[in-house]
Amino acid sequence: MRLQDKVAIITGAASGIGLAAALRFAEEGAKVVLADYDANAGGEQEKALKELGYDVKFIQVDVANRDSVDSLVTQTIKHFGEIHILVNNAGITKDAMLTKMTIEDFSRVLDVNLTGVFHCTQAVVPHLIEQGYGKIINTSSVSGVYGNFGQTNYAASKAAVIGMTKTWAKELGRKGINVNVVSPGFTATAMVAKMPEKIIEQMKAGVALRRLGEPQDIANAYLFLASDESSYVHGSVLQVDGGIMM
Ligand code: NAI
Repeated sequence: MRLQDKVAIITGAASGIGLAAALRFAEEGAKVVLADYDANAGGEQEKALKELGYDVKFIQVDVANRDSVDSLVTQTIKHFGEIHILVNNAGITKDAMLTKMTIEDFSRVLDVNLTGVFHCTQAVVPHLIEQGYGKIINTSSVSGVYGNFGQTNYAASKAAVIGMTKTWAKELGRKGINVNVVSPGFTATAMVAKMPEKIIEQMKAGVALRRLGEPQDIANAYLFLASDESSYVHGSVLQVDGGIMM
């Protein structure tokens, strides 16, 4: 039980990687808040995990909205009494080539993927500082490290998350808080499923392991960074991408 009695907030936990992480964390003894915009999927996943005997709670949140994030933190404290782990996993894409990208789509991706991470972390961190312990895990992407066709907004947001992670590692290390970022490769979730099959095949061809990641592959990296096995890992970018060949 690597997370026995730890309380974790996982954003974007109603599907994909976040859902796999919620299950993985619960299996290791954590009490998990499934924080997601999608109330239908979130409610269903809460029910399914409770039926397996896990201590989880769904709380609806729009990470891009500060009032909504403050309410998430208040409700978490009210329900579980404390917070030890924050996984900033929620993210969206709105792809278009530079010449066709609208400012609305540019801004919304930044609002969710970048400002959302800022809101959640700023709202949770006072509780972590007070207890002198905490784990913050952010989510970047291979697109943020290498860039990617059609992803001006997404790549910008994910590169910026790496910058914030390193800054927070410097600011919060002395408070007993570990801050790291996982950079997933192309992973088999709804986010990738909406891409054309041809593009997915090209992605696989560019990966040394010749396959997409599974949500569990990324969830296991989150788990390592959330556990005390990674106590001396700090300010790191953990690439979980099957060996992207550039
Ligand atoms: P997904 O689309 O399966 O799940 C994302 C979840 O975030 C959904 O449940 C959605 O409702 C939620 N969400 C969206 N906007 C939200 C908001 N404003 N507030 C709260 N929740 C919101 O995506 P997936 O693939 O599981 O992605 C998880 C993270 O991993 C994202 O940050 C994504 O950018 C990142 N990532 C994914 C890769 C992939 O190939 N699937 C590759 C690299 C990074």
